[in-house]
Amino acid sequence: SGFPSQLRNGLSKLGVPREGLDLLFSWAADGNGDYPKIPEARGSIKAVQSEAFFIPLYELYLSYGGIFRLNFGPKSFLIVSDPSIAKHILKDNSKAYSKGILAEILEFVMGKGLIPADGEIWRVRRRAIVPALHMKYVAAMINLFGQASDRLCQKLDAAASDGEDVEMESLFSRLTLDIIGKAVFNYEFDSLTNDAGIVEAVYTVLREAEYRSTAPIPFWEIPIWKDISPKQKKVSAALKLINDTLDNMIKICKRMVDEEELQFEEEYVNERDPSILHFLLASGDDVSSKQLRDDLMTMLIAGHETSAAVLTWTFYLLSKEPRVVSKLQEEVDSVLGDRFPTIEDMKKLKYATRVINESLRLYPQPPVLIRRSIEDDTLGQYPIKRGEDVFISVWNLHRSPSLWENADKFIPERWPLDGPNPNETNQNFSYLPFGGGPRKCVGDMFASYETVVALAMLVRRFNFQMAVGAPEVNMTTGATIHTTEGLKMTVSRRVKPPIVPTLGTPMLKLDSSAGVSDNDPL
Ligand code: HEM
Repeated sequence: SGFPSQLRNGLSKLGVPREGLDLLFSWAADGNGDYPKIPEARGSIKAVQSEAFFIPLYELYLSYGGIFRLNFGPKSFLIVSDPSIAKHILKDNSKAYSKGILAEILEFVMGKGLIPADGEIWRVRRRAIVPALHMKYVAAMINLFGQASDRLCQKLDAAASDGEDVEMESLFSRLTLDIIGKAVFNYEFDSLTNDAGIVEAVYTVLREAEYRSTAPIPFWEIPIWKDISPKQKKVSAALKLINDTLDNMIKICKRMVDEEELQFEEEYVNERDPSILHFLLASGDDVSSKQLRDDLMTMLIAGHETSAAVLTWTFYLLSKEPRVVSKLQEEVDSVLGDRFPTIEDMKKLKYATRVINESLRLYPQPPVLIRRSIEDDTLGQYPIKRGEDVFISVWNLHRSPSLWENADKFIPERWPLDGPNPNETNQNFSYLPFGGGPRKCVGDMFASYETVVALAMLVRRFNFQMAVGAPEVNMTTGATIHTTEGLKMTVSRRVKPPIVPTLGTPMLKLDSSAGVSDNDPL
């Protein structure tokens, strides 16, 4: 079968659609049909181009199973929804896979940053960056999460006074942008209170990345297009502004590090500037400014949209489950009282953590993980060639009726309070909120605490309901799951019983400006 397969590859490179090739070479395959053939889903191209493409993939999964092939025209994708195949790709044989399409789409914004990078660059950068997110760093961030969430509370408080409804999705997006800017490169976006050009620029670039991941034709690759399309000009200008800002932050930070009496040790944190950038420069990270900028940009985007989406869908889910909200508020009142959260509280806010765990199960961010095989491999019982584009549908795994009881129901109690924190390892790759294997999220602890702090601080002070006449909440995707028309809610101040602060826990030191008391001004 050597010649037919060579011919087939040649024709395929010339752009002859796979379906035509299948027909043409069916005789050749018949002779050596020892290999089982991956089930093929046909005629679903239109469905997959719909807004939230992972929804039709769920239907296909129910009929075709844990691995199937999806053809569209000359392109074909393998859709994986099976825990053991996911584990094989992400962990056991991860060296046989690259980021494929994802790297191609994100190149323009992330360059060779940690998410799109593969091979040696990825290895070197991963080794440099992971130590920056050590436990002491994450603990130092809890304070930042609290202060940013408090600023959001002040905004909601004003809305509650004025009786104005609020669009929570965009507020969460601003909250997490403020947090990640400070956490990654010590930059104060302050997007919750102002709309400076840089914030606008970040959103322009994010929207473009999402557009490119769903656009049928890559116009942006046509050289002159960049210069004449007003949209592409705007994107270029936004990228330049962000890059200049990042370069400037790198410069400022380098100066700080130079002036510092540096005692670099394993859990190094600079008190004035605990950012990841500061750690990297202080560690003597030997890297080009372009690479450093790519990594900062990558973390900015990775840590911004994801956390915002988690909070958005958590509040949506909570709006339908008053029972869960009451239980959550009870826990938060008794653990936090009126204080800002500390790192010790993270262990105690068990139910709040389960709410986030369960929200991440129902709305995984991103809903699919993208890979490309760079070697021949075997998935389950099926041999595959190098060059296959593979989508691991975390959405399907997380909602599989064969893996979960009441798969579509929001039940934080499915994770026992005294049990382990669910992760890919203890759930055998049927639960992958942060991926798994060597390319697992580096910000998983950071993100878990960030979302728990925001959740706790908001439900402690307010009740949230879907606003009267709010648009129906539907899903659409870019990199993460967004709502189609926002999450419009009515906030009202909680009428709380008097707060009994937990004894023996000293009040955290905070900037005097942060406003420690969040007593209701009733
Ligand atoms: C990778 C989820 C927050 C930085 C990933 C992956 C997932 C994920 C699923 C694996 C992607 C893949 O295998 O293709 C999330 C979620 C977050 C979150 C749900 C929030 C709730 C963050 C934060 C940061 C971050 C806050 C940075 C501080 C990264 C980076 C990678 C990554 C750098 C790439 C790691 C590598 O390829 O080696 N994230 N993430 N993430 N995440 Fe996160």
